[in-house]
Amino acid sequence: MLYIIDDADIEKIRECVEFYPVDGVTTNPTIISKQHTDFSSLIRSIREIIGKERMLHIQTTSDTAEEIIKEAYALKEFVGGEFYIKIPISPEGLKATMYLSKNGINVTSTAIFTQQQALIAAKAGASFVAPYVNRLDNIASDGVKVVEEVVELFKLHNISAKVLAASFKTVEQIHKISLTGCHSITINPELYEKLIYHPLTLYAIDDFEKDWETVYGTNSILGLLNN
Ligand code: E4P
Repeated sequence: MLYIIDDADIEKIRECVEFYPVDGVTTNPTIISKQHTDFSSLIRSIREIIGKERMLHIQTTSDTAEEIIKEAYALKEFVGGEFYIKIPISPEGLKATMYLSKNGINVTSTAIFTQQQALIAAKAGASFVAPYVNRLDNIASDGVKVVEEVVELFKLHNISAKVLAASFKTVEQIHKISLTGCHSITINPELYEKLIYHPLTLYAIDDFEKDWETVYGTNSILGLLNN
């Protein structure tokens, strides 16, 4: 499963890449706007931190196929590396998706809320489809169920597009999504930290350190390796 960071905070991305396995970064206009900073230097810095091999998904802000296509080419040129243009699903978005996917630009179809939206986006040529788990849960729908069925439908119809589950608020949602066989998730850095947190793990590490130091008087093995 791919773990992608859904944030545009440079310091948080830097920390995540240093301490956690990270397969890429996703952004959207809301995430970028929160940084209140120059757009081009922000995405240039993100690319610099994550390198050319990790995926960078940047969302279009246009709503006509013609403008989306122009933005996609301009962004691909500017951002370089493994680039995906995120396009919210709509008739204009699908028109752009069909064109771009045939012309060598990777598309992530986003703002997906239903199984049929996901199927159609994949048929239009999207490489990833991004269903919004928590936003579905918030309207008393079932985000996990939607993702589960999209994963099943893609298998059933032999579709090569991948599911990039998005919009998470809890570790429980992530755990249930991983059980569906979903290919990838995008989460914010705070949630990534929570995925490895457990108080019993902290107690265990503390006990190991105390026991070792009681006998060897150091917390390192290195000074103890005598021939
Ligand atoms: C990612 O592609 C989405 O834009 C994002 O996960 C939406 O998350 P939110 O529902 O927390 O805003």
